[in-house]
Amino acid sequence: MKTLTITRPDDWHLHVRNGAVLKTVLPHTAKQFARAIIMPNLKPPVTTVEQALAYREEILQAIPPGMDFKPLMTLYLTNSTTVEEIKKAVESDYVHAVKLYPAGATTNSDAGVANINALYPIFAAMEKYDLPLQVHGEVTNEACDIFDRERAFIESHLSAIHHNFPALRIIMEHLTTAEAVEFVQSTHANIAATITPQHLLFNRNALFAGGLRPHHYCLPILKREHHRLALVAAATSGNPKFFLGTDSAPHQTALKENACGCAGCYSANAALELYTEAFDRAEALDKLEGFASFYGADFYRLPRNTTTVTLEKSAWQVPESYQDNEVKITPLKAGETLSWKLL
Ligand code: NCD
Ligand code: ZN
Repeated sequence: MKTLTITRPDDWHLHVRNGAVLKTVLPHTAKQFARAIIMPNLKPPVTTVEQALAYREEILQAIPPGMDFKPLMTLYLTNSTTVEEIKKAVESDYVHAVKLYPAGATTNSDAGVANINALYPIFAAMEKYDLPLQVHGEVTNEACDIFDRERAFIESHLSAIHHNFPALRIIMEHLTTAEAVEFVQSTHANIAATITPQHLLFNRNALFAGGLRPHHYCLPILKREHHRLALVAAATSGNPKFFLGTDSAPHQTALKENACGCAGCYSANAALELYTEAFDRAEALDKLEGFASFYGADFYRLPRNTTTVTLEKSAWQVPESYQDNEVKITPLKAGETLSWKLL
């Protein structure tokens, strides 16, 4: 049996929600990853260090006994965020970054930023105190085609932010286009990016394969095949600017299979297996460890993990759903067979 042992990985972009959903999904991540960057887009959003610390406590309570997992907290940036809050975040041991959601860009982003230029004093403070900025890089202009929104964001905002704050560490989250890959490659080491399993495995045809596929709908939306190929090339290149961030985003099955279905793919149950499949197909298994276990930690200036995980090449079937009382979540590739299994 073919096996692969790598340093235990971390997930640098994860949604775990709160309440009952948190209890259902967190054990999946804790089994796979040592640490995860926890996204702050709760309702209401996590905008202060105080809220982040309370949320962290709730997450710690949801870790099954005996499992070793560290949540890394983030703040949700708004046009009301103050420099004082940024300083508090820097002084806190638990807040590792601040997330920029353009208002209306994605799930729970109504409280996001309507005027990005008004945030320049905040970016200046983050640059000065060296607190990383995580960006959901899509414009929200209704007139902009949904498949062009990432490229438009780079042109209209990200280039300028990077130009004005060259020392600010920026993570462009969930890359989906060849243009975004080129942007990240062409900038200096302060710009990095996460890549999800769904954007490595699927192109936009997966949204309409034989009918409308709500479980393939996430934001930024899946793109054309040439973009997927650019993402696979970037992830498997060994370039430390690209690292693992699942963007696993659980929604109740009924809210996905809906006349107005929510955006987000749930992948935490099999994240590493999905990435391994993508790297295996690209004949780049030797590049998985850097992408999954080293480059994110290095960029966030955290120590690399020291224990290991082992995957085995053996087929298994992804469950149709995960259910727990009132929670029902359908994972990515539900009912399908995966070729790698985490032991
Ligand atoms: C995320 C969610 O559901 O919170 N959804 C998604 O489609 N990725 C939000 C996000 O990261 O955009
Ligand atoms: Zn996300």
